[in-house]
Amino acid sequence: MARSPFDWLDEQADVRRRAGLVRTLRPRPAESTLLDLASNDYLGLARHPEITEAAAAAARRWGGGATGSRLVTGSTELHAELERELADFCGFESALVLSSGYAANLAAVTALAPHGSLIVSDAGNHASLIDGCRLARGTVQVVPHGDTDAVRKALDAHQGPAVAVSDSVFSVDGDAAPLAQLADVCREFGFGLIVDDAHGLGVLGDGGRGAPHAAGLAGAADVVVTATLSKSLGSQGGAVLGPAKVIDHLVNAARTFIFDTGLAPAAAGAALAALRLLRREPERGARAHAVATTLYDLLTAEGLQAVRPDAAVVSVRAPSPELAVQWAADCRTAGLAVGCFRPPSVPDGISRLRLTARADLTDGQIAEAVRVISRTAPGQASAG
Ligand SMILES: Cc1ncc(COP(=O)(O)O)c(C=O)c1O
Repeated sequence: MARSPFDWLDEQADVRRRAGLVRTLRPRPAESTLLDLASNDYLGLARHPEITEAAAAAARRWGGGATGSRLVTGSTELHAELERELADFCGFESALVLSSGYAANLAAVTALAPHGSLIVSDAGNHASLIDGCRLARGTVQVVPHGDTDAVRKALDAHQGPAVAVSDSVFSVDGDAAPLAQLADVCREFGFGLIVDDAHGLGVLGDGGRGAPHAAGLAGAADVVVTATLSKSLGSQGGAVLGPAKVIDHLVNAARTFIFDTGLAPAAAGAALAALRLLRREPERGARAHAVATTLYDLLTAEGLQAVRPDAAVVSVRAPSPELAVQWAADCRTAGLAVGCFRPPSVPDGISRLRLTARADLTDGQIAEAVRVISRTAPGQASAG
């Protein structure tokens, strides 16, 4: 057979197979009988009739897509309304919505860390922040997870502009960053802080206003927040929130805003409806956190090793990548969908089941999930 320029991929596929790290796409039916602890729909809004109707109405009015970059084809009043309400809800001066949370992180980090600057990045940060660091012209220093002294040391040694970047709630283990301390450290040196609140918005803070709001950082002149519309808000898209001059700068400098088609109207409409619903039903976020804590309490009572959740994500240790995959598959067979994180998605090499609590889970569903997870557990869990 003729050689292909992509033959080297066979070798990579072999390595993946031998390590038990092959990923495949699974079909998802429109209606599923599985109990869902895998999605990031923390507040149970993705299929809420108000949200889906708002998405449909926005598509009917503005079209199926945004038709181009908002700098080229114009910016709709729907986008402006969403940005105003999002900024107001979270307590920041200004906001800019982008086509994903991933794009929002690339925008914030690259635009705020030019050549000659320093970016101090937590080792547990999400891939999109890491990629923002890789694309930025500044120098990157990765510091140990949650270590504010290491952040201070890195910033202390630097001349010129600098930012520290951190998830507010880390996506793998669901633990929270010490945001108030991080902000204090940045302030000692007059540097900025970028917080990715993907897992905090809707769950933490007063009525779900997010982790920066809970840490007293809302509206701070030296804090920039990124968020996703695709978790608690049950929609799709991302946002950057902060001082107006930062948002103006992003419109002029952030390549994932300038060279990307604007957020789809349906997504903007759905996110706006979700925000309004959240204002009316502010207890949803606290319920999601409470469900996560109950899951943690019940699973650890069964002898499983889990991380105490600071928001809606519960991480349960698995003995090895292969056993994590098998465990998740056994849960699925028993009617429960759970996430499975393993290398290279987890830089520390520890494989886990990742459960997401939802505000709309009943006590009976929580008990059923715990029963399935503990019944299918591969022996006594340990690091792997
Ligand atoms: C911490 C964190 N930041 C950013 C993102 C990316 O957001 P989006 O899915 O909207 O691109 C995610 C989502 O997976 C995330 O977990």
